[in-house]
Amino acid sequence: MSSTEYVLSEATRARFAREVAKYPAQQKQSAVMACLSIVQQEEGHVSRAAEDAIAQYLGMPAIAVYEVTTFYNMYNQRPVGKFKLNVCTNLPCLLRNGQGALDHLLQKLGVEEGGTTPDGLFTVQKCECLGACADAPVMLVNDRQMCSFMSHDRLDELVTVLRENAGTVEAKN
Ligand code: FES
Repeated sequence: MSSTEYVLSEATRARFAREVAKYPAQQKQSAVMACLSIVQQEEGHVSRAAEDAIAQYLGMPAIAVYEVTTFYNMYNQRPVGKFKLNVCTNLPCLLRNGQGALDHLLQKLGVEEGGTTPDGLFTVQKCECLGACADAPVMLVNDRQMCSFMSHDRLDELVTVLRENAGTVEAKN
């Protein structure tokens, strides 16, 4: 149990209840991924205290919730930047410069793997296979937008576009 208690609001509980209602009463734990997603939508990440609150709500061991959040890297276990950049480093991508793509982003943005830029715009991390190995190197923006054939030039373009979308200006290299 986390030392800081996370209190589920009435609105959040109502959203949880709608998810739980989709399953038989004895299988409400099946709503765990949906509940984690709801908290992440509301908070931007899922803290350990929130995981504990979800476990309690669903009547399941906290460790079973931790297993879900640590398995799927779409769940942020700490605050992340406005743009979460996940670069695939599984073997097929590695064979086509996936590591180089990751290293390029890390160097360009000046962060360690898993780190966030000081302006809060970018978090860069590696991820498992995204199921598009033929398009390597492959990456995912904010868990939704797949980007293929990410050469260094395309990575640079992506960062520029995202910065512009965030209302900021591309920094000079
Ligand atoms: S190994 Fe990178 S998408 Fe499959």
